[in-house]
Amino acid sequence: MMSKFMEWIDARFPATKMWEEHLSKYYAPKNFNFLYFFGSLALLVLVNQIVTGVWLTMSFTPSAEEAFASVEYIMRDVEYGWILRYLHSTGASAFFIVVYLHMFRGLLYGSYQKPRELVWLFGMLIYLALMAEAFMGYLLPWGQMSYWGAQVIISLFGAIPVIGNDLTQWIRGDYLISGITLNRFFALHVVALPIVILGLVVLHILALHEVGSNNPDGVDIKKKKDENGVPLDGIPFHPYYTVKDIAGVVVFLFVFCAVVFFFPEMGGYFLEKPNFEQANAFKTPEHIAPVWYFTPFYAILRAVPDKLFGVIAMGAAIAVLFVLPWLDRSPVRSMRYKGWLSKVFLLVFCVAFIILGVLGVLAPTPGRTLLSQVCTVLYFAYFLLMPFYTRLEKTKPVPERVTG
Ligand code: HEM
Repeated sequence: MMSKFMEWIDARFPATKMWEEHLSKYYAPKNFNFLYFFGSLALLVLVNQIVTGVWLTMSFTPSAEEAFASVEYIMRDVEYGWILRYLHSTGASAFFIVVYLHMFRGLLYGSYQKPRELVWLFGMLIYLALMAEAFMGYLLPWGQMSYWGAQVIISLFGAIPVIGNDLTQWIRGDYLISGITLNRFFALHVVALPIVILGLVVLHILALHEVGSNNPDGVDIKKKKDENGVPLDGIPFHPYYTVKDIAGVVVFLFVFCAVVFFFPEMGGYFLEKPNFEQANAFKTPEHIAPVWYFTPFYAILRAVPDKLFGVIAMGAAIAVLFVLPWLDRSPVRSMRYKGWLSKVFLLVFCVAFIILGVLGVLAPTPGRTLLSQVCTVLYFAYFLLMPFYTRLEKTKPVPERVTG
């Protein structure tokens, strides 16, 4: 009965073909470690954001007069509204934690190298879209930090010569951030950007499945195949990794639910304290800082004394990630077989990125500004010196087969 049904479907839609190509006959390297959980976890968080977002939209009012009160209404009066909101707000931070770890895995194992450049580029476009999505979503509750955070970031475009002022006005749709800005951010946050992100995720995975997954050894598993053309070090994604990923999902959900139920504000890092006060154009908060996932770039912006050059440095800090596949000249992929220079540079880069993230939350002092300048230099040094240190250093021989 079932097979007859599938035959009927398959004659009209490539259901079995897609299942086999992407799951039951997609051979992934057998040596994935826990860092490979974060791709599927990013998918899980994406689904969480879409589902909770749709339900929040049902009770949210995107107007300057009512947005703040409608969020309070969701929290107090809508049945289970509080859990929908906390799942969505915690999901936003979880998304960035998961995506940063996912990107770190890429850096560690050289997953951006040939032939996976497009996987990386689609990933970077997702990252850009995700930042826009989070930025616009943050204006919607119309709290003090929503308003003033957006004010600071949008006004940055004003530093661009000639078109700066017109551009900021065009983005806001008004002379200052107003209900018009809120309304367009709502449209982009709820409709346009989710479509873009979903589309990019499909392209990201299609590109990955075209070339096959990398692995912690950076070994090309397609080089050694059995008589049926199956890679010797490959295992079918389903059931092996679908089941393994469930273990990752369970651990993730324990931590995620603990935050949702016990620390939804996360000490002011996931939901900032000034945002419990309604937006007021006449009252600037004492200290304006973006949400934690933007703060490394915000710290780079503030490290540069000139506003225009600060904006350029911040843009360059993201842009340079796009060209990463062409900066790495190493003959090997994985950090396991790269030389000590690559290891030191990656370590220094990660430490600098975290310090910048911390500095971006804090109010600037001369000492902190100096530290952020040092970290900015170290951040860029990782990328700009990469063509040299990856060629100079002595690498270890890569094994023929994965080592486990
Ligand atoms: C919504 C966000 C994202 C989702 C849902 C997503 C999903 C996935 C999935 C399911 C995989 C395969 C499983 C795995 O290797 O972990 C993957 C692989 C990969 N992703 Fe993403 N991704 C996202 C964002 C990004 C970003 C921002 C980057 C980097 C800029 C990136 C770079 C990569 C790379 C290089 C691989 C291949 C890894 C390898 O084979 O070693 N992804 N992604």
